[in-house]
Amino acid sequence: MSTSEDQALRFGPQIMARADELAAITEDAPRLTRTYLTAQHREAGERISGWMREAGMSVHWDALGNVIGRYEGAQPDAPIVMTGSHLDTVRNAGRYDGLFGILSPIACVADLHQRGIRLPHAIEVVAFGDEEGVRFGVTLIGSKAMAGAFDPAWLDRSDSQGISLRQALIDFGADPEGLARVDRRGRGIAAFIESHIEQGPVLLQAGLPLGVVTSIAGASRIRCTVTGLAGHAGTVPMGQRRDALTAASDMVLAIEAHCQTHAGLVGTVGQLSVLPGAVNVIAQEVRFSLDVRSGIDAMRYEAVEAIRAQCEAIAAKRSVRLDFEPYFELKAAPCDERLQAQLADAITAQGLPVTHLPSGAGHDAMAFPAVCPMAMLFVRCGNGGISHHPDEILSAQDAELATCVLLGMLERFGLAD
Ligand code: HGY
Ligand code: MN
Ligand code: MN
Repeated sequence: MSTSEDQALRFGPQIMARADELAAITEDAPRLTRTYLTAQHREAGERISGWMREAGMSVHWDALGNVIGRYEGAQPDAPIVMTGSHLDTVRNAGRYDGLFGILSPIACVADLHQRGIRLPHAIEVVAFGDEEGVRFGVTLIGSKAMAGAFDPAWLDRSDSQGISLRQALIDFGADPEGLARVDRRGRGIAAFIESHIEQGPVLLQAGLPLGVVTSIAGASRIRCTVTGLAGHAGTVPMGQRRDALTAASDMVLAIEAHCQTHAGLVGTVGQLSVLPGAVNVIAQEVRFSLDVRSGIDAMRYEAVEAIRAQCEAIAAKRSVRLDFEPYFELKAAPCDERLQAQLADAITAQGLPVTHLPSGAGHDAMAFPAVCPMAMLFVRCGNGGISHHPDEILSAQDAELATCVLLGMLERFGLAD
């Protein structure tokens, strides 16, 4: 985009520049990785807090390390419209996943503040400290706590260094005993609206900058351990092996085949480790992760059981042992119809066509139906829609359009209709 076009934009260039600034706050430069309750979480949260204050918000960190900016409504006890997303990232992440949903609403509030506008509702912008679950293996920590769904047992989960979530919260200056204060159920939140990059190719292929999300897919995560028998790579005849890696490989391909033949279902093995991991030793043990998703919970449950049965059959045929351990479950979350209609109106008001699409990715918004109606606005990703990757891209123009739509939604939010 030429600089003159850029200059005509009110929000896009600043959002892109701030995303670049935050992308430099990482644990393993030059890659972008920022995990929960780290020095990088603190630094990014402080940078975001500064931008929130500049936008006319009061800011505080809650007991779990979420950053909350508040822009008062016209009345002191006005209902709250909450928006926001996560400041943590996956490993070797893109710079817009989560962050766009924080920077865009900050730009909206700054615009309201500059025009001296107070709305019939207060606005709270939240930068959640952990959505991805990279450090402790539990996702949506902040948003689930706001929905009263934080399991205190999570406090005893440890990271790869053996540091418990409880200790990490204390070291961070947060408060593991303050969970009740984080719970926002029944405390005046009228709606939760999350803006987020699509993280897929649908809007790009449709030639559309924005979309209204209909529902957020549910997810199951399973830890699989295949145990065979190590042996000398040179002496054990091929027919007498109990090779954990070839068995696991069969299972991984069976998972792919199952999900390829069931529309609306996706299955991913993203992690796999081999022991003892020596070039001249037959694999004794293979551990791999399984992530199964669908917009329909019943379809997902069925798929997990079918996959378990297929993997057990492979284990029996290959005389290895399989431990299949589900450890994580997130129900699919439908987006509120009324809020979807309001988002659609706000898109139409920008002279743009409206499209609706499901979200295959999980988001903080999916924790909120226990608190209030929720909705999501998707903005187009470039580069084929790639995400969870440094090539994740968003244009300043699309960032602008999405922010204008969110601003329109916030200004015209109708509690009544
Ligand atoms: O995994 C997800 O769907 C999200 O990016 N946390
Ligand atoms: Mn993500
Ligand atoms: Mn995200």
